[in-house]
Amino acid sequence: MSIQAVRGTRDILPDEVPAWHRIEAAARDLFARYGYREIRTPVFEETELFARGIGAETDIVSKEMYTFADRDGGSLTLRPEATAGIVRAVIEHGLLSTDPALKVYALGPMFRRERPQKGRYRQFHQVDVEAFGLTSATVDAETIELSLAYLEACGVGERELVLNSVGDRSCRPAYVQRLREALRDEAPSMCADCRRRAETNPLRVLDCKVPEDQSTIEGLPRITDHLCAECAAHFAEVRRQLDLLGIPYRLDHRLVRGLDYYVRTTFEVTSGRLGAQSSVLGGGRYDGLVKDLGGPDAAGIGFAVGLERLALLVPAEPPRPRCDVFLMPLAAAGLDRALRLQRSLRQAGLAAMLDPEGRSFKSRMKQADKLGARFVAILGEDEMARGVWTVRDMARSAQREVPEEKVLEHLKEKANG
Ligand code: HAM
Repeated sequence: MSIQAVRGTRDILPDEVPAWHRIEAAARDLFARYGYREIRTPVFEETELFARGIGAETDIVSKEMYTFADRDGGSLTLRPEATAGIVRAVIEHGLLSTDPALKVYALGPMFRRERPQKGRYRQFHQVDVEAFGLTSATVDAETIELSLAYLEACGVGERELVLNSVGDRSCRPAYVQRLREALRDEAPSMCADCRRRAETNPLRVLDCKVPEDQSTIEGLPRITDHLCAECAAHFAEVRRQLDLLGIPYRLDHRLVRGLDYYVRTTFEVTSGRLGAQSSVLGGGRYDGLVKDLGGPDAAGIGFAVGLERLALLVPAEPPRPRCDVFLMPLAAAGLDRALRLQRSLRQAGLAAMLDPEGRSFKSRMKQADKLGARFVAILGEDEMARGVWTVRDMARSAQREVPEEKVLEHLKEKANG
């Protein structure tokens, strides 16, 4: 029996890769214009980093991590998200001491043992963006604007921005206490997850999707009614600036997100075209996380885009021809000249190919067609005797003879023209 890909993982096949190249190139180009530089961190870290960073009571940490014992007895985990690892690297290398307003982005695979379905995988990819050391609401608005600009740069038009504030460490504990009290009466009639979360992490109850629990949840106290004056002012300013920039959003007091590090602004962007897994990106502010993980008291804000989901939304582009020149040495003696010409064409930046199997003229022409070759250069017995190549322009169905010593220049000019 042949071996299959592990459940929840997927191959990105050659036909899909051009869309991935486009979204990766758009990230590099756009983020650089907003002052972000790329950072690359390992795909596995000490398990404790995620437990402390994301929160031991979150679904990600309690149920979804790929954790394994290292041979020396340590516990390692494949990163379920990028933020914690980036914060670790920022602290470890003291990056904030040289750049107190550090902006970095990262691209790469993440791992969560979730139930696989369309748009939800166990290995998936994120583009992740993080800004440190900046507390002003202007940064929240700019980060949100950047996330939308990125979707736009990838050709994604139809989407909805959802916004909330989850308060900070001065006002949220009192709110969570209220929630806990309200849930004391309500939880016994709710689903098993809600009953558990009512004790361990009441905010997570707001994430529940079980239909029977929805009316109860709607009746619970709302964080936005319990923000302290500073958080309320910050949130009002974020919204004012989004209005100023003409960015529409929907407020959702239940958007608490699945990671515990958030304070104040949280946001997600959803698309109706994605089905059940509708969130294409999510993020928010996480002032306090850098300090919690042993670094300076620096603010932080960022977001991550799920690239599998983004790739589903990116409009298809006509495939680019993969072959500029297809070389056809028809006699065995022509192979050496064709190999030299192929190498020169490739060095000149053109996509050149030949059929090394020396099949029939007809099957090679078919192959050239399939590759979308723009030019076919034929070297038969007759051409060899006269020191020429027959160059066929496939789009025009026209052909001409070109002397051997001019054929490289000729093809370069035609293919680049
Ligand atoms: P998150 O909401 O857990 O946030 O993930 C961000 C995005 O990653 C989601 O909106 C979704 O597109 C994608 N994603 C998550 N899980 C899966 C999965 N199993 N399969 C496919 N795609 C998935 C974070 O990860 C935060 N670190 C974002 C952040 C950065 N907050 C501040 N800075």
